[in-house]
Amino acid sequence: MIIAIDGPAGSGKSAVATELARKLGFIHLDTGAMYRAVALAALKGGVINDPHAVAELSRNVRIDLNFAVEPAAVLLDGRDVTADIRLPEVTNVTYCAADNPEVRSELVRRQRMIASRLESLVTEGRDQGTVVFPNAEFKFFIDARPQERARRRVHQLALKGIDAPYETILQDLLIRDERDRSRSVGPLKPAADAVTIDSTEMNLSEVVTLLAQLVAAGRIGA
Ligand code: DC
Repeated sequence: MIIAIDGPAGSGKSAVATELARKLGFIHLDTGAMYRAVALAALKGGVINDPHAVAELSRNVRIDLNFAVEPAAVLLDGRDVTADIRLPEVTNVTYCAADNPEVRSELVRRQRMIASRLESLVTEGRDQGTVVFPNAEFKFFIDARPQERARRRVHQLALKGIDAPYETILQDLLIRDERDRSRSVGPLKPAADAVTIDSTEMNLSEVVTLLAQLVAAGRIGA
């Protein structure tokens, strides 16, 4: 069974996907980590600004996800890059991988291959319900007002001891939203048959409980 969760940056979808997968005993696939891994490889190879080279690299690089740990460890050509792919310098250039149609087609292929080997999957990204798994049994689109998403991000960073200005975080988030929504291939948007959940006024456990209830009730579609 596939549960597809899409949504914008900072919507809480990663935390929701992690928690829902744990609750149901499903594997959690974070497809953003795959785009980040390709961007990191391109950055290291000095080809991040060369779309042909990034596409070529996405086809040749080995990306292994170790689901035995949560969050899954990400291995790039055998090296653990789980922490490196979250560095701001990688986040800032991941669009070079995500905007590239050839990279998308390669990663979509790999995501489907991963799913074909697993029985039960909670997969999260931007295009999981629309492009990658149009036949997913359940599709959710988690959203929240940008101001609330920025507030959550500031709070998350503060917990890590990082003091980030709210206005900067909000502007970065709006830029990422625009980029994700206007991409010609695999743009961020709810699938026609997805259940959209506005989590602005909800906490993590309320969203997870709601999703688990909808899954248990076999509720599909809006
Ligand atoms: O979810 P995230 O922030 O880790 O995603 C990193 C980047 O990859 C972000 O710019 C959106 C992009 N992405 C995508 O285009 N398609 C996906 N399925 C997952 C992520």
